Amino acid sequence: MATLEVIIENGIGIAHQLFFLFFMVPYFYLESIYKALFVKVEPKSVKGEIVLITGTGHGMGKLLAIKYAKEGATVVGWDVNEELNKKTIQEIKQMGYQKVYGYKVDVANRENVMSVAEQVKQEIGDVTILINNAGIMPHHSFLEHTEKEIRRIMDINVMGNFWTLQAFLPAMRKNNHGHVVALSSMAGLLGLLNLVPYNASKFAVRGLMEGLHEEFRRYPNNQVKFTTIYPYMVDTGLCTRYEISYPSMSPLLKAEYVVEQIFEAQTKNKRNVSVPADIGFLVKLKTNFWPQSACDYTTDTFKADLLSDLEGQTNGNRG
Ligand SMILES: NC(=O)c1ccc[n+]([C@@H]2O[C@H](COP(=O)([O-])OP(=O)(O)OC[C@H]3O[C@@H](n4cnc5c(N)ncnc54)[C@H](O)[C@@H]3O)[C@@H](O)[C@H]2O)c1
Repeated sequence: MATLEVIIENGIGIAHQLFFLFFMVPYFYLESIYKALFVKVEPKSVKGEIVLITGTGHGMGKLLAIKYAKEGATVVGWDVNEELNKKTIQEIKQMGYQKVYGYKVDVANRENVMSVAEQVKQEIGDVTILINNAGIMPHHSFLEHTEKEIRRIMDINVMGNFWTLQAFLPAMRKNNHGHVVALSSMAGLLGLLNLVPYNASKFAVRGLMEGLHEEFRRYPNNQVKFTTIYPYMVDTGLCTRYEISYPSMSPLLKAEYVVEQIFEAQTKNKRNVSVPADIGFLVKLKTNFWPQSACDYTTDTFKADLLSDLEGQTNGNRG
């Protein structure tokens, strides 16, 4: 390219960027504030949808299964723990909702995911809402994590998402109808004590969902939506030992509350939702705008740490 052409192209590029920065960004900010304050978003109905939730044997997965059944969806619950999952399904049926089905699946095992997914398709139909919730969270120092633990965390928390997506996303794309929800965590937004592999897994979930949104957004008239949830600590028992500086200000969240937030996020097509929103906002400020010294100061002063779950245990039975 001749020198003059390069100068002209760069000049146009810079002008375009300045226009975007000083006119378009403020416009988009004002538009979002206006929408948040004055435009009421009607939630989508989930009646008639087939929702597949992983990890329905316990915690938020179980509560999500109950919530979607109550809201009129057909619920397919997957869990590696067959006994707990059967209990969830029975409880929902006893509440009077019969369109609920349980399967034993290890989401870390691709073959298992693919074959049970085929069974679900034959027996129930195409899954239209996929909630990737199953996850594990061993919490201790990185140097104490075994190879087996690290692989298991990545296999369940990350690869499990890939396999269910490979199983169910093609039909959503083909029918141009569907929604994928993934459980990341505040640990998917910033580094936390005793959680290095879990941190990595939840950052990966975030990356996976961001990429998917961007790819699907480019399909004309795309109606397949993606929602990622970033909860603070929840009272399901996953956080076994923790230290919070101001526990009455930032207590563990009630799982029921988080499930309501997830349901609202999905039915209102929200993209990224931190629960609670105020902690999410502070985390984003901290990680994006504060100097490192301020980040370290707040982490030391306003503690919300997970303590090692190995206290009093030997390493022998962890592989
Ligand atoms: N509890 C929290 O503090 C918290 C905070 C942020 C994010 N999260 C995330 O939310 C999700 C749910 O957490 P929870 O607290 O309800 O967990 P939980 O331990 O209460 O329940 C998890 C369920 O997943 C199942 N599961 C585990 N491995 C599986 C596998 N390989 N295949 C299929 N099912 C499997 C378990 O049997 C269990 O029923 C997880 O992804 C977790 O990382 C939890």
